[in-house]
Amino acid sequence: MTIDVRRLGPEDALASKRLEQEAFGWPATDLAPDDLEKPGSHWWGAVDGDRLVAQAVDHAYEGWFGGRVLPVAGIGDVTVAAEERGRSVLGPVLVALLEGARERGAVVSTLFPTAPRIYRRFGYEVIAATRRVDVPGAALASVAPAPDVRLRRAGADDAEGIRRVYDAWASGLDGPLTRRGVRFPGSDAELVGSVTGTTLAEDADGTLLGYASWVRGPGQVPPELLVLDLVALRADAYAALLRTLGSFSSVAPTVRLRTSGDDLVRLLLPTTAWTPVQEDLYMLKVLDVEAAFTGARCAPGLTLRSGFTLAGDVLPDLDGAYAVVAQGGTVRCERGAAVDDRTLTSRGLALLVTGATPCRDLRALGLLTGGDPAQDADWDALVAGRVRGVLDHF
Ligand SMILES: CC(C)(COP(=O)(O)OP(=O)(O)OC[C@H]1O[C@@H](n2cnc3c(N)ncnc32)[C@H](O)[C@@H]1OP(=O)(O)O)[C@@H](O)C(=O)NCCC(=O)NCCS
Repeated sequence: MTIDVRRLGPEDALASKRLEQEAFGWPATDLAPDDLEKPGSHWWGAVDGDRLVAQAVDHAYEGWFGGRVLPVAGIGDVTVAAEERGRSVLGPVLVALLEGARERGAVVSTLFPTAPRIYRRFGYEVIAATRRVDVPGAALASVAPAPDVRLRRAGADDAEGIRRVYDAWASGLDGPLTRRGVRFPGSDAELVGSVTGTTLAEDADGTLLGYASWVRGPGQVPPELLVLDLVALRADAYAALLRTLGSFSSVAPTVRLRTSGDDLVRLLLPTTAWTPVQEDLYMLKVLDVEAAFTGARCAPGLTLRSGFTLAGDVLPDLDGAYAVVAQGGTVRCERGAAVDDRTLTSRGLALLVTGATPCRDLRALGLLTGGDPAQDADWDALVAGRVRGVLDHF
């Protein structure tokens, strides 16, 4: 077998669709090939002669991390043909794709794995999750009223306001996509029209405080009401939206919320009813170490001058010593001489830079070694208070 790894183009579209379909099981009738040259999507594959034996796509997203937006390579459609699995075909495809993503400026790469182990040797680790949770409508109906909040149905004119509320919510987290790049081309009418309803929560002056976009399921089969976005900037706006979702309880006894991690919505509920029914893990790998740290917000009172060595990454040239400085509320990172033998693996770096795992646990997992353990608290402080989350699956 002679494998050639290359960018895929229109001539590969049908083979690509077949590979995707046999792995993920889309309906056999849906054989319309993807446009492999669609703006914002970069397809890579391994070809044996004229046979496509593996593929993956890098979608150009942007995501919020540490209070600023980073270019993200969102990986999808990772597939190896059944007969070629276990023969080391995946590695060259993914490494070529990640190098291409790095060349176009992506700072991190993320994906929703079918199994995390597949991606660990490439340096990905789980930093967040999207969760679908069932809550009885009756519990939502009993949330305390919010007399200062007014509700109304959104129209296409409200789309930009909805995007702004989402931005305000997402900018405080590590992980959410911006929903503004080339991969979110939907018009204002599509944004509002793609769900059964979007309910807006406003204050007395008409300032938008939050919204819920919901889909009414068919009849009385759970979940009768699926809430794709429940996003608000104030507790009373959340409360008003939750009560309204609960008002369906006679016809929709179960409301399914798409949430992000340990959503603060749970702290507003009067009962313990909160049943997770689906969890999609979100993994991240750093592609540009300096840019992944530089510009991130940190506590204004924190001063840190330290560094670490990255070891064992699959990408050429990423390994090496990096100096990290935190001062005046922001972080800076550049290549530099090692200050000590503090060493991170790529998985450790993914967990550290997003604040997903404290140094104590990184040491227990073997993802951080060396250095002065007494300095671990400074590194934890660098990312203290980060909350991770993501809503959009790809
Ligand atoms: C996932 C897939 C692309 C892996 O291809 P492959 O040729 O089997 O990959 P490799 O043999 O190089 O295995 C890579 C690693 O993933 C692990 N792995 C592969 N499939 C796995 C699974 N289903 N569950 C857990 N680990 C898995 C292997 O054990 C190996 O781990 P290691 O590096 O720690 O030894 C291939 O099995 C496939 O196409 N599966 C169906 C589609 C799919 O699930 N795609 C992933 C979408 S996120």
